[in-house]
Amino acid sequence: MLEELITPGVIRKLYAWESDLLTAHFLRLDPEARHCRFAAGVSDETVMAYAGRALGPDAVVHGFLVEGVMRGAAELRLMPGRTGEVAVTVEDAWRLTGIGSALFGRLLLTARNRGLTGLVMTCLSSNRGMQRLAARFDGTITTASGDSFATVTARPATPLSFWREVVADSASATASVIDRQIGLLRDGAAAVRGPLAEG
Ligand SMILES: CC(C)(COP(=O)(O)OP(=O)(O)OC[C@H]1O[C@@H](n2cnc3c(N)ncnc32)[C@H](O)[C@@H]1OP(=O)(O)O)[C@@H](O)C(=O)NCCC(=O)NCCS
Repeated sequence: MLEELITPGVIRKLYAWESDLLTAHFLRLDPEARHCRFAAGVSDETVMAYAGRALGPDAVVHGFLVEGVMRGAAELRLMPGRTGEVAVTVEDAWRLTGIGSALFGRLLLTARNRGLTGLVMTCLSSNRGMQRLAARFDGTITTASGDSFATVTARPATPLSFWREVVADSASATASVIDRQIGLLRDGAAAVRGPLAEG
């Protein structure tokens, strides 16, 4: 299932050299979201160190970007066997508009095209958002020791699924250039207005 975005912004794969975007996104997460994604009391330094290593060869990370700023992430990390570990984060002001689902849909397509058969997400058992999101993809939830584990099945790749990934990546490449330009135009307009407003 590929979910359409209903908010301005673009979903695309991150390049290995774009860990700064991921770091800034993680550091903007509210304390509760940081707790859900990492653990209670994780320091900025630990988050930065993790983000700096997160775009390695064992991972594919999709970002949701608005005017060049990353507001959501879906991380897929390859595990032994044909499974992948998944984490999804969306900044507070962008939640409940389908971005988490859209990110997960793109990640799932990537996973099936890489031959993975199952995805696992771990979250606190109180995390209704992650559990609802997994349910949208027919995920099964199990609970142990206060944590919930959502397992989502990835169907086998087909010529159509490969084609859909290629089309999605091509459309995203164009959309992200336009998205970045909108951000630069806004910054430029603000820089011009600034001195005028002061004068
Ligand atoms: C979990 C998270 C990624 C969901 O992102 P999102 O963009 O709000 O997700 P969507 O808008 O696509 O919503 C998906 C479903 O979850 C539901 N949902 C989202 N947040 C919810 C919440 N706090 N409580 C109850 N349901 C919630 C939505 O209503 C929707 O349900 P539906 O299928 O019935 O319509 C986001 O809340 C988040 O980043 N949380 C903090 C980090 C985190 O916990 N990550 C998971 C551990 S890695």
